[in-house]
Amino acid sequence: MSDFASRLITWQKIHGRHDLPWQNTADPYAIWVSEIMLQQTQVASAIGYYSKFMQRFPDIAALAHASQEQVLAYWSGLGYYSRARNLHHAARIIIEQHQGVFPDDFQVMQTLPGIGRSTAAAIASFAFNQVQTILDGNVKRVLARHFLVEGWTSAPKVEKDLWQLAEQLLPQQDMVAYTQGLMDLGATLCSRSKPKCSSCPLIKSCAAYQQHRVADLPTAKPRKVIPEKHITMLILLHDGKVMLEKRPASGIWGGLWSFPETEANLSFDSIVLNQFEITARTSPPLTKLSHTFTHFRLHIQPQPMQVASVPPKISEPKYIWLSIEDALDAAIPTPIRKILYTLLKNSANHAQKKSA
Ligand code: ADE
Ligand code: SF4
Repeated sequence: MSDFASRLITWQKIHGRHDLPWQNTADPYAIWVSEIMLQQTQVASAIGYYSKFMQRFPDIAALAHASQEQVLAYWSGLGYYSRARNLHHAARIIIEQHQGVFPDDFQVMQTLPGIGRSTAAAIASFAFNQVQTILDGNVKRVLARHFLVEGWTSAPKVEKDLWQLAEQLLPQQDMVAYTQGLMDLGATLCSRSKPKCSSCPLIKSCAAYQQHRVADLPTAKPRKVIPEKHITMLILLHDGKVMLEKRPASGIWGGLWSFPETEANLSFDSIVLNQFEITARTSPPLTKLSHTFTHFRLHIQPQPMQVASVPPKISEPKYIWLSIEDALDAAIPTPIRKILYTLLKNSANHAQKKSA
């Protein structure tokens, strides 16, 4: 076994994490769900969502038989919603094409939507004790430092080298502790800023540490300016209810409920008139909010409007009128949740003033 692997395994068994809700199980479903949730979400934020998700969808069949709407409601707030849509889709494929049994074949796993090479390796090692290496952002950082690998770690050439390195380091046994050790080291000691090298089991062999290059590695991603988009969200209110619009299945917030939106500088009154054939009284706009996606930054101006009566045009299934409380339980992205909280607070203040 490589020194790297044996030191990491020994360290993991003593200092690593052992009581996370998806550990101490070999259930591939429980492990799969955790790995998908942890792809873009930190452990501390994921834990609460994970427990609720597993209670509501305890096995592959429960997930496959739920509607996309129900699954998205349990993902609401976690972001990167294609993860939830893929998870759901993959559960249905497992029922239809794999007799309801999660595949134990490393290549077959990677044919399922949402399961790439590193996620497949995590599931293969945790659930099936197979010798496969993970290579997520944390592991890339550890390897880039330990072996002094220069260049942005997601550049194809650099990434290829890292996969090769990672494979050479694999032990032939103790894969659960080894894989978890890679994750734990990257998350706890070999963090992006202020790594705790003095506690690290790899300090003696770490090239970046020996050569005082820890702060330079991994090499930063080449900077790109991301585009900004400005929109107005129309918050149609009627009789204590708010109107939500279901977003198209693909794209940003696919399948989630949001507010109708327009480009920032168009006149809302004419939009509302034209699009929905209604008249509405414009209320003061709410505070602007911003949300950053991978590829652009969205600036939202929420614009409440009081609608006198709801015309037939708004009875299509893609529109729904809900109380603010019910809307908060629906499958909604985070900025919509924030706007709904503001509306809730404003209506509570308003009620208080009235009764005073
Ligand atoms: N990140 C991704 N998978 C993880 C796991 N199993 N434990 C802790 N952090 C993780
Ligand atoms: Fe990371 Fe420091 Fe350990 Fe090197 S010695 S692997 S830089 S924590």
